[in-house]
Amino acid sequence: MKLRSENKSQTELAKIKYLCALDWELINADTDYYTHGYHPYSAKYIPQIPNRLISAFSRKDDLILDNFVGSGTTLVESKVLGRNAIGVDVNPLACLISKVKTTVIKESTIVEISHFLNNLRRDMFHECSSPDWKMLREYWSPFDKLHPNISRWYHLNVIRELLAIKTKIDVVTNTEVKDFLLVAFSSLLRTVSNAKSGFGNLMIDKNAPPKNRIAERFSLAVRKMLCSLAEFNTVATKSQVFIFKHDSRKVEFIKDQTIDFICTHPPYMSAVPYAEYQKLSLWWLGYNQYDIEKSLIAGRRSRPDTPQRFLHDMEMSLLEMKRVLRKKKYCCIVIGNPVYGGKTWKLNEIIKQNAVDIGFTHLKQISRGKYHSTMGKMKEEFILIFRND
Ligand SMILES: C[S@@+](CC[C@H](N)C(=O)[O-])C[C@H]1O[C@@H](n2cnc3c(N)ncnc32)[C@H](O)[C@@H]1O
Repeated sequence: MKLRSENKSQTELAKIKYLCALDWELINADTDYYTHGYHPYSAKYIPQIPNRLISAFSRKDDLILDNFVGSGTTLVESKVLGRNAIGVDVNPLACLISKVKTTVIKESTIVEISHFLNNLRRDMFHECSSPDWKMLREYWSPFDKLHPNISRWYHLNVIRELLAIKTKIDVVTNTEVKDFLLVAFSSLLRTVSNAKSGFGNLMIDKNAPPKNRIAERFSLAVRKMLCSLAEFNTVATKSQVFIFKHDSRKVEFIKDQTIDFICTHPPYMSAVPYAEYQKLSLWWLGYNQYDIEKSLIAGRRSRPDTPQRFLHDMEMSLLEMKRVLRKKKYCCIVIGNPVYGGKTWKLNEIIKQNAVDIGFTHLKQISRGKYHSTMGKMKEEFILIFRND
């Protein structure tokens, strides 16, 4: 018995030693391979992180959990590595992107997507030269109260073309085709808007250059996704992926001790207000930005009690992670230290302590060095490795 447990900890030690020796800054790494480049997502982690951690701490056919799944990076890597995976996120856009990124689409469905593009090209010229303003108003009426400024975010020609594309997607009956097209559509919404480029935050640029050929841009986005899909289809295993639009503070649908490995990347307190940054996509896809904001961990910015709420919510999530993870299995948390209220919050230390307080054993902290972000808000990023004892 003694020998076996010694051997086990040897293996654990060797794994950690191996991981510590790797370069984690990965400055020039390709991060858009397979389906990872389908859609931009604020503060997503690079796929090499979950790939290395899943490879080290789990085996084929294991069940992996990412309870802050975002755009599904962990799920794509799980699918490629032959692990089953559960992704949880309160943001419906995250769930949609994750689903499409992890779906192997068969040839007949790809043909349907190509037909959609051909029909779109055929119809667009006619419709864009005679805009249906009545339809435009009807389409936007549910949002009128929430988004009265839509015409400040887009030039009218852009709204018209987007509307023509969106109304065609809305009547597609095959869910796989529809979701694929919606992700392509959503991926465009910021670049064709009047938002300032180069900022994480969404701000209107009064001098934004006019955008045109929106349908062509959309077709290009779909075709690029199809190329990535072809690559993904050749490497994706038959493992299963389950995605839940749910709050990670209470994942009652996951039974106790059923998860073999947790690889996750929680929000960095209020550093990235997901609903605010993604509001153009959320509006067009029919979601209420403000409802989503309320359920995000510390989603609302600049509230005096943000740090307290964040810490409380994170503790609830950690308790759930502890409950669902099998004994002696591992949990990796990627976290950065944001600047908030004029000071740097050492979330790595705080989360490490919280996790230890509820019974996780902390094994190692790996620093990823300086965080490379256009927002420049994060000082450093860490990978925390725990065992569930
Ligand atoms: C740092 S991002 C994860 C990014 C992900 N690793 C990726 O590569 O795309 C954190 C995610 O936590 C989600 N989130 C925030 N509060 C949540 C909650 N209460 N329950 C579930 N997910 C939540 C956000 O919507 C966001 O997608």
